[in-house]
Amino acid sequence: MNPLNHVAIIMDGNGRWGIRHYNSRKKGHKAGLKTVETVIKVSIEKKIPYLTLFAFSTENWKRPKTEIDALFKLLESFLKKKIKEFNKNQIKLKIIGEKKFPKKLNKLLNDSEKKTNSNSKLQINLALNYGSKKEIINAIKLLNKKNMNINEKNISKSLYTKNIPDPDLLIRTGNTKRLSNFLLWQISYSEIFFSNKLWPDFNSNDFINILKKYQRIKRKFGKIL
Ligand code: IPE
Ligand code: IPE
Ligand code: MG
Repeated sequence: MNPLNHVAIIMDGNGRWGIRHYNSRKKGHKAGLKTVETVIKVSIEKKIPYLTLFAFSTENWKRPKTEIDALFKLLESFLKKKIKEFNKNQIKLKIIGEKKFPKKLNKLLNDSEKKTNSNSKLQINLALNYGSKKEIINAIKLLNKKNMNINEKNISKSLYTKNIPDPDLLIRTGNTKRLSNFLLWQISYSEIFFSNKLWPDFNSNDFINILKKYQRIKRKFGKIL
């Protein structure tokens, strides 16, 4: 069995799904939250300790303000609704990225992290205003400031993901094969799966099938097996 400590997901395709079904990108983002619930449930069932979800990139600020506002509103109501359940299910929430949002949302994010901090079954890393290049630059700046050596261990320990094992598995939905500035350092040895399905259509079977395929991979890490 391959160890499975960390699954990272680029949740792509909400906008297209919303347009296709309701002529509304916002409806697509809303529908995407159901899939978030599904992958959380499966992650708990499969005893996966870390789940990282890409929800808003540093590049997504280039979208119209109306879409960004709608996204933040949905995130706000989702978190408010879910915190109790997170505590009940021992889910710890961590934000990766820079918390530079409207005051109210920033506070909610900080509060949600604090309230769930001692939970230990599943850690959800929510990537918000996350950009991998920015993360790496920040890490190097931090090391320079502390006069520390630039080496692999020190860089890893200076990323937002410090103390989190690198993803074993990266999944991107939405029928697009690119990384869009996500976890470039951390996925250097991850197994990568692309799903043609739009995120709201991605279901527990799709997720479980990928987990099964992952188990059949010979992970070599440069060695000859
Ligand atoms: C991904 O869905 C979610 C976010 C970036 C917030 P998109 O909004 O990118 O959906 P598509 O790719 O336009 O369909
Ligand atoms: C990546 O999706 C970001 C998130 C899923 C949050 P995008 O839709 O922003 O990526 P591009 O623009 O197609 O590369
Ligand atoms: Mg997209």
